[in-house]
Amino acid sequence: MAMIAHKCKDHSVTVVDINQSRIDAWNSDELPIFEPGLDEIVKGCRGKTLFFSTDVDTAIREADIIFISVNTPTKTYGVGAGRAADLRYIEKCARKIAQVAEDDKIVVEKSTLPVRTAESIKRILEANSNGRKFQILSNPEFLAEGTAVADLENPDRVLIGGDQTPEGLAAIQALVDVYATWVPRENILTTNLWSSELSKLAANAFLAQRISSINAISALCEATGAHVDEVGHAIGTDSRIGPKFLKASVGFGGSCFQKDILNLVYLCEHFGLPEVAAYWNGVIEMNDYQKHRFARHIISTMFNTVSDKKIAVLGFAFKKDTNDTRESAAIYVCKDLLDEQANISIYDPKVPEAQIRRDLDLAEDDSSVTVCADAYEATKDAHAIIILTEWDEFKALDFKKIHDSMNMPAFLFDGRNLLDRAALRAIGFEASGIGRG
Ligand SMILES: NC(=O)c1ccc[n+]([C@@H]2O[C@H](COP(=O)([O-])OP(=O)(O)OC[C@H]3O[C@@H](n4cnc5c(N)ncnc54)[C@H](O)[C@@H]3O)[C@@H](O)[C@H]2O)c1
Repeated sequence: MAMIAHKCKDHSVTVVDINQSRIDAWNSDELPIFEPGLDEIVKGCRGKTLFFSTDVDTAIREADIIFISVNTPTKTYGVGAGRAADLRYIEKCARKIAQVAEDDKIVVEKSTLPVRTAESIKRILEANSNGRKFQILSNPEFLAEGTAVADLENPDRVLIGGDQTPEGLAAIQALVDVYATWVPRENILTTNLWSSELSKLAANAFLAQRISSINAISALCEATGAHVDEVGHAIGTDSRIGPKFLKASVGFGGSCFQKDILNLVYLCEHFGLPEVAAYWNGVIEMNDYQKHRFARHIISTMFNTVSDKKIAVLGFAFKKDTNDTRESAAIYVCKDLLDEQANISIYDPKVPEAQIRRDLDLAEDDSSVTVCADAYEATKDAHAIIILTEWDEFKALDFKKIHDSMNMPAFLFDGRNLLDRAALRAIGFEASGIGRG
């Protein structure tokens, strides 16, 4: 929404949320999300074309186009628990629009949703229409956290799905016109509603599948003496495969991949396609395997015990350049080590202590985890270092100084293959990473 406000000076964008503290943060100097380049954009158009408010009713009344962008987490209760998307927030938004709107609206699904959700939204709106007309569009978001501003500024494509009726096509055109302010028209794809909804789930499933594929190969590399970066490069030079997303790691995280694949799996089961469901579920299983395999490797390398040892964790966000920790691999690796009674000291450049403690379900008086202000403090007197996020600043650390402050033998486990292992070994580290025999 900030990018639309930034690019479309003749439109006014109001972001509303029921969470007062989030809106307060969006209106303050300290934005609630760390995302490179976002501060400048928000601060440049806030109060001019971009507004943040908790007055949901007024915003609905005044809008021509309403984007529903609320969370769609995995359901934790009832039918489909653990797999289906929880659509209660979406339904509440639809009911609110039906209750408050005074004239015709275009309602856009921006959240990632199961296929055919637009039908439910349409039925709720139409059952309460009182003569007003609603057009539902699907406009899934393909940005990646960490590079969101660049992705929005120059998207590979914008996807807009809608009814293929004259009214539906007119609504699609209205949204095309918004994006066409800065996105080349040939990069704006228009489809029917169901193709658009499914494309978002399928795109995330394909992306996650590539990570699980290279991670599966990384386990075989370790067993055989192959080198996963060399294998990744060799297969990525095939133009049919391409080089991106072929880096082995401790596993993918983030709020979307797992949730969206589980959602896809649930849809497949719902539509009587168990083989298709099992195929995609394998992507999640491989990711779980990779996270736990890494933790097991750490424990077995450290003489089969980490009990009472100090383990320094560098990085807690699910990837660099974000403060988002949802489903971060770091959570799983730390929990496995805590189960083995390790003491963990964590440093992440952007994730606050309270967030880390909440993610690890720690009691207030639990002293097994310390959150540090820098990497040198976290690694002092440690028995091992684990790299769990590929923050650039970790590459510039003085590893000689770090090594000399640690317990010997000083282990280093690079879950992102970020560092130069030969240089670390020359310093004296017992260094290992992912996917090297
Ligand atoms: N985070 C991403 O990078 C990303 C990328 C693509 C798609 N998506 C999709 O976008 C959606 C939102 O993701 P997110 O990461 O921003 O989630 P989030 O949980 O960070 O934010 C959702 C916000 O919606 C608000 N909200 C909930 N119910 C509301 C209501 N009834 N009225 C007004 N506000 C309400 C919440 O208070 C919260 O601030 C999800 O469907 C997600 O899959 C996210």
